[in-house]
Amino acid sequence: MSTRTFDALLAPGRIAGLELSNRVFLPAMDMNLCVEGEISDGEIAHYTARAAGGTAMVITGTGAVAWPIGATSRHQPAFSDDRFIPGIRRLADSIHAVGGRLCMQMCHHGKTASVDTADGRPQLVPSLLEGQPDLSALRDNPMDELMRLATATQGKKATYKVADEDDLAWVVDQFAAAARRLKAAGVDAVEIHAAHGYLLSSFLSRTYNKRDDRWGGSIENRARLTCEVVKAVKAVVGPDYPVIVRVNGHEYGPEDGLTASETAEAAVLIQAAGADAIHVSANAHNPFADFTDGPLPNTIAAYREHTKTIKRAVTIPVVAVGRMLPEVADEMIAAGECDFVSMGRQLLADPDLVNKIRSGERASVRPCINCYVCVEQNFFDGNPKCAVNPALCNEKVAVLSPVDRAQHVVIVGAGPAGLEAARVAAVRGAKVTIIEKSGRLGGTMWFSQLTTPANAMLVDWLTHEVQRLGVDVLLDTVADTSIIESLRPDAVIVATGARRGRPAIPGADLPHVLTGDALRAVITGEAGADLSSVGPVGRLAVGVGRAVGLLNRADRIRSLSKMWMPVGRRVVVIGGGLVGLELAEYLAERGRLVTVLEEGKHMGLPMAMPRRWTAVRKASDHGVTLVREATPVSISKVAVRYKSGDREFEVRGDSVIIASEVAPDRSFADELSARGWNVKVVGDAGHVGYIEGAMHSAHEVAREL
Ligand SMILES: Cc1cc2nc3c(=O)[nH]c(=O)nc-3n(C[C@H](O)[C@H](O)[C@H](O)COP(=O)(O)O)c2cc1C
Ligand code: SF4
Repeated sequence: MSTRTFDALLAPGRIAGLELSNRVFLPAMDMNLCVEGEISDGEIAHYTARAAGGTAMVITGTGAVAWPIGATSRHQPAFSDDRFIPGIRRLADSIHAVGGRLCMQMCHHGKTASVDTADGRPQLVPSLLEGQPDLSALRDNPMDELMRLATATQGKKATYKVADEDDLAWVVDQFAAAARRLKAAGVDAVEIHAAHGYLLSSFLSRTYNKRDDRWGGSIENRARLTCEVVKAVKAVVGPDYPVIVRVNGHEYGPEDGLTASETAEAAVLIQAAGADAIHVSANAHNPFADFTDGPLPNTIAAYREHTKTIKRAVTIPVVAVGRMLPEVADEMIAAGECDFVSMGRQLLADPDLVNKIRSGERASVRPCINCYVCVEQNFFDGNPKCAVNPALCNEKVAVLSPVDRAQHVVIVGAGPAGLEAARVAAVRGAKVTIIEKSGRLGGTMWFSQLTTPANAMLVDWLTHEVQRLGVDVLLDTVADTSIIESLRPDAVIVATGARRGRPAIPGADLPHVLTGDALRAVITGEAGADLSSVGPVGRLAVGVGRAVGLLNRADRIRSLSKMWMPVGRRVVVIGGGLVGLELAEYLAERGRLVTVLEEGKHMGLPMAMPRRWTAVRKASDHGVTLVREATPVSISKVAVRYKSGDREFEVRGDSVIIASEVAPDRSFADELSARGWNVKVVGDAGHVGYIEGAMHSAHEVAREL
């Protein structure tokens, strides 16, 4: 276990007159739990949990300064009237009671003010833009998702108003009035949202701001609105009260978008206007294409260079964000690259991160796996849910009560569902035994780390937790009724995963046709794997790899597979869901010519939207041929025939991988139930729901044993 002490990250800090217990913030994330702009008990529970977990300051999801005008949701915090003050005060009191600090993010949503559209008002913009946004990614969204995407606008088409002098004076006043209310409610700091394409950031951006008056053109003019807001807010709240400004360190997509050096110039002006800290985020021009670049990046410390550029330009504290893990955050603060860090999704996944690293339990921090399940709900105006933390937006399920009598729980299968069930049952004080047929923990999730490295963190965390909690693990053991009987369990949880079959078409059982399970077995050298499809060189490679232990670690397999893999040059993947699409990119990166045949109309459906859009784009960028509405008809040694509409086509392939035909498999559970045991089924064995389904179903079953 790491002995790192995170001294820089855990050191106290200060912004203006506000003392902060360490350097970790929760950045603004919409929970959408407000009721007509009023803070609800759910919001209070959410933020209080993160403050109680040791986070120095929590920043609430965007609140609308002129709500409902300029608002993005009726469920976001409203700051437009004194009647909202008591609710905000309840939140502030709750945060203070656990020793935390509260900052609220203030915004006018400009061109994304969906409530304006729903209410028939035009959205306020710096300029009218020509041309249509590229919505081609939406072809992989089924109709029900398209309809849900229109929830906040009620399906109405946006209209726009170019802001005039009166509008802008009104905007400035609205921010100042909101800040007055927040300070009066006991909020410790405010953040002015000048990022992510909302009104202030659209003025800052040359892409959106085409004006030639004093609000457009030079960076001084484009930053004027933000600076006026800062001055007005500071005049109301006073010099010691912290005013943070969130900016885009970079705009991904447009050629004339903001760059870090231009934002650094703006940051100097914003500091001169009175801001007390700069929070460096980023944005993408087209959320349907580049959302995984900004504002929710898929790489660790994604905005590090932008942050450094801005930090060099100003003397006030700088806050970094963008998949900040504790190690890189500590390193950046120690190196003077930033002063504070925001951890967004990581604190959704584990609200207790700071307390855990403070007490030397880094390995116990439940990791965010960067799956975008949370934010997908925001696209639908809904409440985020977290794939790995079932308590997000439902904090009461985080409290696990002790089991009411001594119990021995036997769990069959050590994939994410089995491990999570074991963890929860063990936390509750049950005696737990896991039976796993392979020689390692993680199940299909272990294999998924090859294509999705972030999943490795979840495997590691679950493994660490079941070991820490003293769960008995029987590896290389095939569960049967006699073993179960010998363990004398009070309850059995079956987490044996899905059945992965072959399509019922001619040629599906040819040796070069691999199911997902068979591919995993040959790549990882699983004992007993059928290696008949891989030829003599392949058999030798797998044999040697297994013998010298090269195939025990996913990162080694990932790099070794760049030299050799048990698949031919032309690969046809049947099934364009989560597994098929990620596998296709993995294979293409390793020089294979890949075609994905998907029977349905949409690629990547089980992936949360932003990840799906990126996966489709990246697969195409890697030269993968994606064929939708393609029903396989037959497989020969050299090709796969498929039907599309009334016509048949053929695609060449010397390896075929079946990534479809995944179905729940309750057979073992049924066998045990028939013998009278108390059996519960979790994960893909009961319902194919991947990591999210596995973690949630296991948590639910184990917390109610
Ligand atoms: C569910 C969700 C909602 C978000 N809502 C906001 C928001 O209201 N205001 C904002 O400035 N950023 C918002 N963000 C962006 C985060 O503040 C943060 O910048 C981003 O998630 C990157 O940090 P991370 O990689 O640590 O998650 C949201 C992110 C998520 C996951
Ligand atoms: S849903 Fe996925 S991306 Fe979001 S916080 Fe949870 S693990 Fe991270």
